[in-house]
Parts: sequence; structure tokens; C-alpha cells
Amino acid sequence: EKGTYAHYMLKEIDEQPLVTRKIIQEYRAEDGSLHVDEEIVAAMKESDRVYIVAAGTSYHAGLVGKQLIEKMAKIPVEVHIASEFGYNMPLLSEKPLFIFISQSGETADSRAVLVNVKAMGYKALTVTNVPGSTLSREADYTLLLHAGPEIAVASTKAYTAQIAVLSILAAVTAEARGFALEFDLTKELGIIANAMEALCDEKDEFEQIARDFLADTRNAFFIGRGIDYYVGLEGSLKLKEISYIQAEGFAGGELKHGTIALIEDGTPIIALATQESVNLSIRGNVKEVVARGANPCIISMKGLEMNGDTFVIPEVHELLTPLISVVPLQLISYYAALHRGCDVDKPRNLAKSVTVE
Ligand code: F6R
Repeated sequence: EKGTYAHYMLKEIDEQPLVTRKIIQEYRAEDGSLHVDEEIVAAMKESDRVYIVAAGTSYHAGLVGKQLIEKMAKIPVEVHIASEFGYNMPLLSEKPLFIFISQSGETADSRAVLVNVKAMGYKALTVTNVPGSTLSREADYTLLLHAGPEIAVASTKAYTAQIAVLSILAAVTAEARGFALEFDLTKELGIIANAMEALCDEKDEFEQIARDFLADTRNAFFIGRGIDYYVGLEGSLKLKEISYIQAEGFAGGELKHGTIALIEDGTPIIALATQESVNLSIRGNVKEVVARGANPCIISMKGLEMNGDTFVIPEVHELLTPLISVVPLQLISYYAALHRGCDVDKPRNLAKSVTVE
């Protein structure tokens, strides 16, 4: 039930701190360490390459998951759009492991790939919110999101839950492979839950940002570098699906290779700056578009902020920033859609789970 909330989407955004804490609890062993089923860890250890397959928001979580698994567990990862995989199957490594990411566990495009790779004799893990869903039943292994039912068509808490669970899988695999992490993931996830809460308490701020930047624009661009680029892709999907503003996410350096032609006076550019190593270069990209008249909304992380930034998010570990940098984007999209009188929970032409290919 949505209780006092006007929309499920807002309720589900607000549930993210709770879900993050629940995930820590569910994946914690008695001795306090993080734990994932041994057979799943063994499958990760045995594989020479991980193939993540997903659609939409789950695909965007997969892009972040690739960074987590590669940086922490040091296994190469490819991320594929489910609907393309059938026609465009990549050359597979000798010992592939497939990870299907799906909130509903019912997405037909992902299921088609699962059936195919199972027939080829490969192992598959499904990361899903729904126990007993088709993708869970048909895969060898399942990791649950424990996010509670997600009702709004626009996915929010499932995205952060997917990233949190993938971070735990990456950390446990890293340990099993003998790579020590230089941070305590349980502690970081706790810090993140608190940071999410702080962001959810700033709704007035995000409502105002939506008014300032998105009130009557035709289009909007999201830019970022590295992991911020992936979060920008998710931010643009969120904005376009519920507000119908044409939104695109770009790698910071890519805009100037063509799309910058679309920048006019007042075109909103939402830039993410949460990564120290690319802080100066993303700010250089902002200058390029501002020189063409863009209206920049800069969301940076504490410690990397500069004068004039629009909003500064709390500081968390650089690999885990998507868990909190996405929250402002979710809230800004929500308010942009609300101000435009859109049906936030049930956007036109969309269904919660896409069960046709
Ligand atoms: C976007 C959204 C969709 C889903 C996609 C995959 O907000 O909800 O893009 O993420 O249809 O759905 P699942 O995760 O259920 O496979």
C-alpha cells in the first residue's frame, strides 16, 4: 500500500535506505562477514569471464556491476542488452558464467537468452527481486534483492538493490580469489544507507531543481565519466519514461563528437561529478556546453565540489557512488513528471514487466 504517499514511485525511492540495510542483514553470516552461497562463489571462481544480460534499468545496474566485479574480484565482465544477445551473440570465452539481472524475473528478452545458454550447457545466476520467478526457476542459482514489491513502473529501489547485491557478490568473490579489499563493504553500505536517507530528506531541494532546470524544456542531457556515465544513462531513462522529456545520457567526452550540435540557449545539462580521477575533465565538458548556452545542473560529491555546484551529495567510496548519486536523479525525474501533470506511476505505453520479445 502506498499509505500517505501520493505515488508508489516516491514511496519506493524513500524505501532505499531500508532496503540497503535489509540487504546487509540478509547477506551477513553469523560472524558478521558478508556471505553468498558457496556454489555461487565457486561458479564465479571457476569462470574466466562473466556475461551480464539484462534490459532497461537492470542493464544499467549491470554496467555498474561490471565495474564492481572487475575492480574487486578481477574477473573480466561483459554487459549485454538481452534483446540483442540472441542475434548478436558475442564470441564466448572458455568458461563463461551468465548473470541475468531482472527485477521481475519475467522479462521475455532475458528469458530467451537464458533458455539459449542453458541449452548450450552453461551455468547461469539470476539476480532478481521475485523468488520463484521464471528467470529464478530456470537458472542454476539465484540471488535475491530483498527490496519488497516494486509497483511503480519506473524502477528505483530495484536498481540500488541490484548494485548493492552485485557489490556483495564482487566482494565475496574477491575474497575467495585471494584479493583483499581495501575497504569494509558492510560498513560502507551502512554509510550509504544513511546518505540515502539524508538525500530523501532534501525533497524540497530536488523539487526546486526540477523547476529550475526541467520546467518547460524539450530535451535534457546527462553527462558523466566512468561510473558517472552509467548513472547518467539511468537518470536519462528515468526522466524520459515518466516526464516524456527527451533525455539522453552521454560519456562526458563524447558530446562534442556530434550531439553538442543540439545544445541551444537554456538546454539543461545534468552533470555528475563523483569521481576524483575525472573531476577536472568532466568540468571541462561542462564548460564546453555552457559556452554554447547550456543550463548546467552539477551534482558533485563532497570533497570534489566546486563553487556554483547545484547539489553536493555525501561522500562514499568511489566504487559505490551510483547507490547515492542516482537518488537525486530519481527525485528530480519524479518532480519533473509531477510538475508536467504526468501519470508518474503508470507512464504511457509502458508495462511493469515486459513479457513479450
Ligand atoms: C525502467 C524499467 C525498465 C525495466 C526493464 C527490465 O524504469 O523499469 O527498463 O528495468 O523492463 O525489467 P526487469 O528488471 O524486470 O527485467
